[in-house]
Amino acid sequence: MRDVIVACDFSSASEVLSFLDRFASCERKPFVKIGMELYYSAGPQIVREIKARGHRIFLDLKLHDIPNTVKKTMKVLSALDVDMTNVHASGTVDMMRAALEGLTREDGTRPLLIAVTQLTSTSEERMRTDLLIDRPIGEVITHYADNAREAGLDGVVCSPLEASLVKEKCGKDFLAVTPGIRFKDAAADDQVRITTPARAREIGSDYIVVGRPVTAAPDPVSAYERCVEEFVYGKEDCQTAP
Ligand code: C5P
Repeated sequence: MRDVIVACDFSSASEVLSFLDRFASCERKPFVKIGMELYYSAGPQIVREIKARGHRIFLDLKLHDIPNTVKKTMKVLSALDVDMTNVHASGTVDMMRAALEGLTREDGTRPLLIAVTQLTSTSEERMRTDLLIDRPIGEVITHYADNAREAGLDGVVCSPLEASLVKEKCGKDFLAVTPGIRFKDAAADDQVRITTPARAREIGSDYIVVGRPVTAAPDPVSAYERCVEEFVYGKEDCQTAP
């Protein structure tokens, strides 16, 4: 079940397609994350095009609006045939239920639906001063995760360091999708709470979301394969650094 999702944070269709061309001969096609930058520039057509190439897709649009708007938007997105999409848990349990309803097709099938708890860029101090949430961040994250579980969602996006807390509260089958991944020998960039693919496996992540360590690597295919070896197959440091 574990898999590596490559965050394709590009701003045009041509960039992402030529990046994915490099993986054409790979036996395992990367699970691709399409975020706001690419979706707002290239639209639903890029989702169809990447899907037609045989990739699974996580459409990371982080919806957050009134329940009726989210429900109707999810209904539109369900026609795109993505494999995973998301909302903000802070939209409330009602909004998450509405999202799930909108996403479920007439035949009962639907993509996985996960919730963002607190963005990993939000510190406990900012949560207190800007959002007036006066609780420890771990408690807020597990509470939001529990709301997502109550609404019927499949899991949450969280820091890998929070994955075990989420599993403890919501059960081992509740998915932990974790960005903030770096190889042992690499720079952190702007990420703060980071861990390696091998450590994310140990902590219990179900999916890791990896961007720059793959997209900016001199050899993206071998960087991706290194993530797969470490995270999916549990072989630490089996390859040289990309
Ligand atoms: O390049 P890097 O590996 O840092 O990319 C991580 C990806 O995960 C980016 O697409 C970023 O938007 C996303 N993400 C994150 N932290 C969150 C939610 C999403 O880094 N809390």
